[in-house]
Amino acid sequence: MGIVITLANQKGGVAKTTTGLALARILSEKGYKILTVNLDPQRNFDQALGCAISRRDLQTPSLFHVLTGKMQIKEIIKHGEFCDIAPASNQMYGWSMPEGLTKAEYEQNKDNPEKLLNLVHERFSDEYQAKINYKYTHIIEEQIKTIINDYDFVIVDTNPSLSLLTMNGLNAASMGYVLVPAYAEETSREALLELYDTLFALNSNQIKPIRIIGVLMTKYVSNTRAAKRYEKYLTKMADKMGTVLFKTKIRRSISVTEYIEAKTDLLNYDPKGNASLDYRAFGEEFLARLSELEGKHFG
Ligand SMILES: Nc1ncnc2c1ncn2[C@@H]1O[C@H](COP(=O)(O)OP(=O)(O)OP(=O)(O)O)[C@@H](O)[C@H]1O
Ligand SMILES: [Mg+2]
Repeated sequence: MGIVITLANQKGGVAKTTTGLALARILSEKGYKILTVNLDPQRNFDQALGCAISRRDLQTPSLFHVLTGKMQIKEIIKHGEFCDIAPASNQMYGWSMPEGLTKAEYEQNKDNPEKLLNLVHERFSDEYQAKINYKYTHIIEEQIKTIINDYDFVIVDTNPSLSLLTMNGLNAASMGYVLVPAYAEETSREALLELYDTLFALNSNQIKPIRIIGVLMTKYVSNTRAAKRYEKYLTKMADKMGTVLFKTKIRRSISVTEYIEAKTDLLNYDPKGNASLDYRAFGEEFLARLSELEGKHFG
């Protein structure tokens, strides 16, 4: 049975996508069979893998069709150069919005403003949202279950918010782990605390708790005071979250800002660059940690 690795941090631009792509390539080069599941409607992951669905394209099968129950994940998978891909589409933004009144409900009650208002209040109540959340946040987990035996790893990229999409990604990690990229900046603190609270809340509904494999420092500049301060903070925070801060850090480097435009992944675009070398070192540390947690050898 494959292992799900969900990249998550609701803070934007922490290198979730870059890390997910690097991990997909490294693991596939080791001979593992990989599926990537892109829950971010920005579609950067798919762009780098050369199969992004264009903005207005409603036809090409994507995770939007899976989330809306029109297709099974099996039916939307594409075969890429080094991994299989379940692509995102721009329409997924709309899917993850909170549900308002339906047109039929409005038509039925339009002469009764009090009833309409009550319906609106009910829709946005915590209780209703909790019900919606439960119903709509396990779709991807259930779908991945149907193909998990076909892969060694399923790498799930998420978008930078705690949307229903991200919650789907986090719940899917009950079949594996969450990997948290983070970098030295004040806003990282708040984002990590919120992720911690979210996992705590989601875990109360999970039979198997969602675990974090580790926190990875990205965009790292070693000789700054901020880097040292945040390293200490992230070590403490990782401990609180029942996990570790990886020893490997991904150095900040220019080529990382260029690879998506070149429509490939970083390791292919700049194989000898600092960040690529760091990702390769991280790959080894990741597999060692996984071996420890799973009680069997990965390498
Ligand atoms: N090691 C690095 N050095 C320099 N720039 C980096 C590094 N890692 C990531 N970046 C840059 O930071 C930006 C965000 O990276 P990436 O898209 O991987 O993050 P993300 O967390 O997936 O973002 P989002 O939250 O928008 O999905 C990109 O412009 C990328 O080029
Ligand atoms: Mg991203």
